[in-house]
Amino acid sequence: MGPLAGKNALTNKFLPESRISVSSRQRGRNGNFFVTRDVNVNTPRMPSAEDAATVDVMIGEHARLLSSQLQAMSEALFPPTSQKTLRRFTSGEAARLMGISDSTLRKMTLAGEGPQPDLTHSGRRLYTLSQINEIRALLAASARGRDAREFVPHRSGQEHLQVIAVTNFKGGSGKTTTSAHLAQYLALQGYRVLAVDLDPQASLSALLGVLPETDVGANQTLYAAIRYDEERRPLHEVVRKTYFDGLDLVPGNLELMEFEHMSPRALARGAHGDGSVFYLRIAEALGDVAERYDVVVIDCPPQLGYLTLSGLCAATSMTITIHPQMLDLASMSQFLLMTHDLLSVVREAGGRLQYDFIRYLVTRYEAQDGPQTKVVAFLRNLFGDHVLTNPMVKSTAISDAGLTKQTLYEIGRENMTRSTYDRAMEALDGVNGEIESLIKQAWGRVG
Ligand SMILES: Nc1ncnc2c1ncn2[C@@H]1O[C@H](COP(=O)(O)OP(=O)(O)O)[C@@H](O)[C@H]1O
Ligand SMILES: [Mg+2]
Repeated sequence: MGPLAGKNALTNKFLPESRISVSSRQRGRNGNFFVTRDVNVNTPRMPSAEDAATVDVMIGEHARLLSSQLQAMSEALFPPTSQKTLRRFTSGEAARLMGISDSTLRKMTLAGEGPQPDLTHSGRRLYTLSQINEIRALLAASARGRDAREFVPHRSGQEHLQVIAVTNFKGGSGKTTTSAHLAQYLALQGYRVLAVDLDPQASLSALLGVLPETDVGANQTLYAAIRYDEERRPLHEVVRKTYFDGLDLVPGNLELMEFEHMSPRALARGAHGDGSVFYLRIAEALGDVAERYDVVVIDCPPQLGYLTLSGLCAATSMTITIHPQMLDLASMSQFLLMTHDLLSVVREAGGRLQYDFIRYLVTRYEAQDGPQTKVVAFLRNLFGDHVLTNPMVKSTAISDAGLTKQTLYEIGRENMTRSTYDRAMEALDGVNGEIESLIKQAWGRVG
């Protein structure tokens, strides 16, 4: 197929009246791109004093009520004024993170090499992540007979930026939880990580300490860097530092929805402002900051719209989260079909779609649940090595931490039932360690 045929197919495929039917802002905001056309709203109207109100007015009122209540609840749990800070790490934890023994770390600290940790009144040493990274740099500089990359694993030379899209259009499949823990795990290992919130609902931003409704103003999300008009800004202007040394964030909020409205218009006009066609725009935006990072983790929204497609085209690998239930499998099958369909059009139009790896990650897994183990066995049978060996187990440690917008990596072991914490942490480290070794393989590092 020639490039022109590709272009026509692309335009037809992505025009608003074809596949992705978002015909008004209001509609887009409910987040369902595929069903909106056929939705039949015939729920009986609640009798109320404002019985004359039209459905849009009433829904608007409900939205306002709910949003203000949610915000009040969230502020009670997590006051907006309280800047998140990362806990400090015991010398045992710090040594393990650096890959050296407790006694080596103790000797270094006592000899005054590197930053000095705080001492608790019981005499325990507590290191911050940035102190750990300083010590890593010292260790790398004097790596006697060992590879300096064991201490400071930054990419170099031909090693290309890893962009991992965490995706699936099933909400609740664990995308955001996976993205946040993966990004933090990699930062803890000493990589330079950028987390990108591609979801207008912005739960990743919230987990990483940035509240989408109060902390993120106009033109401060990824949208700022991919928009089609003259207000476009380079991505580095919207990147924020987080309370994790080495982990930065491009926050999201509802503004991201604009991309879903503006892309079909730009396609129809055949004009894309100063930049490229929609599917190249996220890759283009990332180009501005690529040099500063080793890994980018993109938390995708639960739809297959323009944002997700552009994210998938920027990616160098893909992690598809899957909760092992028959219904979720059916929805994943739909997701795969549609992804195939849309991406092949993008590829025919000239999009570069070569991934280092694609992996399915089993999430919220309950090993004692018969049907779930059957589904997992079925997946492994079908997809073999494409299913990560380690599943992420269902754990109250993860969901409890999530209630206060925290991850397990930031909660100390002392704050939870030990066995629950350990089990969840073991699973997390297993999953994230596996993804880390895929990254290293993509860089051609052995092991
Ligand atoms: N391993 C897990 N154990 C327990 N609860 C989990 C786990 N992973 C995710 N959850 C919970 O499931 C819900 C949905 O997860 P989330 O990551 O937000 O999914 P998605 O981003 O795909 O919509 C959240 O409340 C989260 O705390
Ligand atoms: Mg999510």
